[in-house]
Amino acid sequence: MERYAIKGGNPLVGEVEIGGAKNAALGVLAAAIMTDEMTIVENLPDVRDINVLLQAMESIGVMVYRTDRHTVRINASMISGLVIEDDYIKKIRASYYLLGALLGKYKHAEVALPGGCNIGSRKIDLHIKGFKALGAQVKIEHGLIIADAKQLKGAHIYLDTVSVGATINIMLAAVLAEGKTIIENAAKEPHVVDVANFLNSMGANIKGAGTDVVRINGVKKLHASNYSIIPDQIEAGTFMFGAAITKGDVTVKNVIPKHLESITAKLIEMGCQIEESDDAVRVTASKRLENTHVKTLPYPGFPTDMQPQITVALGIAEGTSIVTESIFDNRFKYVDELVKMGANIKVEGGNTAVIEGVERLTSANLSAPDLRAGAALVLACLAAEGLSTVEDIKYIERGYEDFEVKLQSLGAIIEKIDSDKELTKFKLKVG
Ligand code: EPZ
Repeated sequence: MERYAIKGGNPLVGEVEIGGAKNAALGVLAAAIMTDEMTIVENLPDVRDINVLLQAMESIGVMVYRTDRHTVRINASMISGLVIEDDYIKKIRASYYLLGALLGKYKHAEVALPGGCNIGSRKIDLHIKGFKALGAQVKIEHGLIIADAKQLKGAHIYLDTVSVGATINIMLAAVLAEGKTIIENAAKEPHVVDVANFLNSMGANIKGAGTDVVRINGVKKLHASNYSIIPDQIEAGTFMFGAAITKGDVTVKNVIPKHLESITAKLIEMGCQIEESDDAVRVTASKRLENTHVKTLPYPGFPTDMQPQITVALGIAEGTSIVTESIFDNRFKYVDELVKMGANIKVEGGNTAVIEGVERLTSANLSAPDLRAGAALVLACLAAEGLSTVEDIKYIERGYEDFEVKLQSLGAIIEKIDSDKELTKFKLKVG
């Protein structure tokens, strides 16, 4: 099984290009099937989650032409089925965006119940509440969510919890509904705004995306569009924290600094220097990091998808820090792996980590429990002197394109290996 072999101790130094936002692209690709005309989507990240969603779309007859690694042309005029099979939804939860898109366009959709990746319970009750408010009958049978509507009429929907997925899925189901839909307590993440902007570029009428009240006036049909996905704020944040954790000097390029404000603010609190330009952010960490406290919140708060990365950084900072996870109920599984490296972290009540910073982490053989924690564990190994390995990197490849290649370009000694023989060769090579 593939894993990363890492020789830690080198600071990350240099520039890295950030790719398109995975969590925006998933919603945009689902939205693309709502027109019978050709759409072109650019700046797609070439990662497993995106490729699995494209396969799910092809499985119901959507024509997908990849014109280059980061660009697809999509034609959904010949959709032959409205059932998204189990194997796609098991691989990626976000296949459920096809539920909202197919329901919105064809008034019928069947999608296997999504699994939850191991960061806690991953409910979909708010998605279903929205579909029902729009006039759909929704039932769960044989592991499938079946949504059906004679017609979809605009409704006033209040989301009890701020939910990115529910906001996007309800938007998809509402854009072709009759009349006005209001989504209250909507998620404000940049990727929600990106999906709304794409839908508007196809002729939808959505206002207020990025605020907590999204207003949608249903239109008759959607037309062709050529659209480029926004940069990935979490990929950018991961490399920014890589600079902090390895006492390096990294410039993330092709970013939107505004989307990174909460991440930048925390890095400054921890003693890093930040330089911003219109599409780049430079992070320099010349001395030991300082402690701080952080609570994950919906955007524009500190992102839950950056929680493992900041915990690793605080694990080697001076002093005591507290990290509170307010979005998911089981997102500290990776702490056991950090403790193997000598970290002094105690998780209390499931959603609070009390961190006593240690001088340094020691190398170890680790396993990635999920996508963002996997990336954070790699950063921890880069900071720890000696040779480490990280297994289950398939999680990391779900959301990071060429992760080890980009790290190598910043001076990291890291390789993707597939056998003990390759590990021995790596050890001989790096000494
Ligand atoms: C999206 O997940 C992202 N995934 C997650 O990123 C991210 O962590 C999360 O938003 C929060 O920002 C994608 O966009 C594909 P939510 P999503 O609905 O939409 C509860 C990554 O690393 N909830 O905003 O599933 C839920 O249990 C991934 O790229 C309900 O109660 O998250 C959670 O506590 C990991 N009922 C909270 O809302 C619902 O119907 C926020 O979840 C839906 C959600």
